Amino acid sequence: MADIKKQIEELVSELNEHSHRYYVLSQPVVSDIEYDKKFRELQLLEEANPELILENSPTKRVGGDPLSEFNSVEHKVSMLSLDNAMNAEELSEFVSRTKRFLSKTKYAETELEYTIEHKFDGVALSLVYEDGVLIQAATRGNGEVGEDVTHNAKTINSIPLKLRSKVGLKGRIEIRGEVLFLTEDFERFNEKRIKNEEAPFANPRNASSGTLRQLDPKIAAERPLTFFAYGYGHIDAIDLPDSSSKIMELIASLGFRVSPFFHIVKEDKLVQVYNEAEENRINLKFEVDGVVVKINSIKIQEELGFKQRSPRWAIAGKFAAVEATTKLLDIHMQVGRTGAVTPVAVLEPVEVSGVVVERATLHNEDEIKRKGLMIGDRVVVKRMGDVIPAVISFIADMRDGTQKKFTFPKECPECESELIKPEDEAVYRCLNSNCPAKLEQRIIHYASKAAADIDGLGDKIVTLLLDSNLINDIADLYELKKEDIADLPRMGELSAQNLLDSLEESKKITLARFIYSLGIRHVGERTAKIIASHTKFLDAFLKLHYDELVEVNEVGPGTAEAVCDYVNNEDEVKLINRLIQNGVAPTFKEEVQKESSITGKTFVITGTLENYSRPEMKKLIESNGGKVISAVSAKTDYLLAGEKAGSKLKKAQELGVKVISEKDALTMW
Ligand code: IVH
Repeated sequence: MADIKKQIEELVSELNEHSHRYYVLSQPVVSDIEYDKKFRELQLLEEANPELILENSPTKRVGGDPLSEFNSVEHKVSMLSLDNAMNAEELSEFVSRTKRFLSKTKYAETELEYTIEHKFDGVALSLVYEDGVLIQAATRGNGEVGEDVTHNAKTINSIPLKLRSKVGLKGRIEIRGEVLFLTEDFERFNEKRIKNEEAPFANPRNASSGTLRQLDPKIAAERPLTFFAYGYGHIDAIDLPDSSSKIMELIASLGFRVSPFFHIVKEDKLVQVYNEAEENRINLKFEVDGVVVKINSIKIQEELGFKQRSPRWAIAGKFAAVEATTKLLDIHMQVGRTGAVTPVAVLEPVEVSGVVVERATLHNEDEIKRKGLMIGDRVVVKRMGDVIPAVISFIADMRDGTQKKFTFPKECPECESELIKPEDEAVYRCLNSNCPAKLEQRIIHYASKAAADIDGLGDKIVTLLLDSNLINDIADLYELKKEDIADLPRMGELSAQNLLDSLEESKKITLARFIYSLGIRHVGERTAKIIASHTKFLDAFLKLHYDELVEVNEVGPGTAEAVCDYVNNEDEVKLINRLIQNGVAPTFKEEVQKESSITGKTFVITGTLENYSRPEMKKLIESNGGKVISAVSAKTDYLLAGEKAGSKLKKAQELGVKVISEKDALTMW
C-alpha cells in the first residue's frame, strides 16, 4: 500500500511537471504519447485505490458532474477595472496626472518606474489557493460578486491545481489573470464546430467567456483554453515583494504563465514601447487589445490609491480596434492575370482601424467552406496593420433564414470557359488565354512600376481602352493614336500626350523588367533578374528549354515549367514579336555588382531611413553584391534598422542578428 501511495505521488508530481513545461513554459521534454502512457498508468492506479487520489492529480481536471446553476462568489478584494488611454497623447496625460498627484507627497522627487505588459483580450478570472491548493475559481461578475467556475477552471491545463513552492504555503493566495484562446487553438476549434454544423464563435474572447460559463465541465475540457496571470487579490500565505515586476516573477515561479511582453521603463520610453507593442500585435499567438501600464513600486501604488472603480496607479493603453461587423452582400469572382479565380467578399462598407473596408479576399473555395459563410451573413471583419482585410467568421445569432448558400461557379465569370482546379492546388483557374479578365490584369501588370513602368496608365484607363476597343493586348498600346486617347472621358490632349510620352519611354526596357512584365506565373522581379542574367538576350530567352532552366540556381521546377510553357506558346511569341516590331527594345544590363565586404550577405531593411528610401537602399545594397530579403530569420546577416523600427527589430534582437544603422551600412562598401 505504502508503495502504491508513493507510486501515485510520484506519477502526479511527474505529470504535473510535464504539464507545467508544456502549457506554461512551452518547453516540453516528453512526447504526447509518453505523457498519455503515464497518465493512463495513474488512472489505473487511482481506479484501484480511490482513497489514495490526490487533490492535485491531473486526472481531476476532467470529470465531475454538471452543475444545475452557478454559485455566487464574493471577492475578498474587489476586481476593479482600468481607465483607458486611447492613444499616445492620453498615455502621456496619465503620466502627468500621476506626477501631479505625487508632487504633493514624499515621492515628489522620485523618478518613476513603470511596467508595461500586454492587455489580454480574454475573460478575467480569480483563482483562490488555500495552503497551496486550488479551491476556487470565479469570474469578475460586477467586481464585487462573481460566479463560481471552479469546475471549468480545473480543466485549463495552464492553471496549476497546486502551487509550485519550495516552502510550505499556509494560508490564502489569490491570483488573477485572463482566460483566453490562443489564436491557433481558436481557429481549429471553430473549424471543428462548423464541420459538426455547430455555430462558430465570432472571436476568441466570446469563445472564452462562452466556455467558462458552461455548467458541464466536460464541455470546457474539450476546449483548449489558456490562462495568463497578471496580478493578485487577497494574499496572506506569503510576504509580497515591493514591486509589481518582482511580484510577477514570484507569480511565474508559483507555476503560472505570465505575459511574455513585460518591460520596466522610465517615462521617456513609455510611448515608444506602447507604439511598438501595437505594431507587433499581429505576430502574437493570442489577441491583445492594448497594453497595461502600472507604477512599479507597490509603496507608490499605495500612495496613489484608487478612484471609484479603478486604480490611479495603472492605465490601459488601448490599441485601435481591428475588428468590426458588417453584412456580406455578395461573393464576386476576380480573375487574375494568370487565370487564378479568387473569391472576393463584397461587404457593406464598414470602418476598421480607420479605413473603410468594402472588399476582402476569401482566398479560395475551401476557405469559404471552412468558415461556413453564406451570402447575407453578418460577418466579423478584421484588419491588422497593413494586412489586407479578412472575413473571420459569421455571427450565428444573426442568421434569420434569409441567407443564401454560396456555390462556387463552374465557369469563368468573364469568358464562361470551364474553370479547372489542378489536383495539387487550392484555386480554380480559367485556362482561356483570350479571357478578357486575364487580359485586363496582364495589361495592368505590364504597365506597373516594377514592369514597363508606364506612367499615366492606371487600372481605370486600361479598362477604358479595352472597353472602347482601342486595345486588345499589350502590343496594341504602342499603336494608340493621340486623338483616340484624347477622346476618352476625362482624358484630353495633355493627358493623351503624357501617356504617349510614357509609352515611348517604356520602349527602352531592361531584359529583366521585360521578362517580369510578361506576367508569367511564378516569375517575380527576382526570378526575372535571374533568368535575364542567364539568357542575356531576348532570343536566348525565347529558346529556353526546361532542362537548361531548371539547372539555373534559384529556379525551381514549377517556374521552369511555367516559363517554358510560355515561350512555347505560339500566341505569346507572336505578341512578343509585335512588341519588338512596335519598338520595344529589351536589352540586358549587367547589374554592376562590386565585390565588397557585403558580397553574398543578406540584409533586411526596416523602419524609416534618414537619407534613402527603402527601395533606394535595397538597390544600393544589391549593386554592392548584397542580397535584400523581407523577413528576418536566424540566417539573416544584418538588420538595417531606421527610425520607428518595430517587430523586425525585436525579432532580430531575439535571434541575435546583427543590427546596423543607415550610417553603419554606408561604411560597408
Ligand atoms: S491589471 C485594478 N493587467 O483588463 C485592475 N489587467 O480593463 C488591474 N486585463 O479587469 C488589472 N490584461 O481583466 C491587468 N496585463 C493585465 C491585463 C488586465 C487584461 C483585463 C483585466 C481587467 C481589465 C481592465
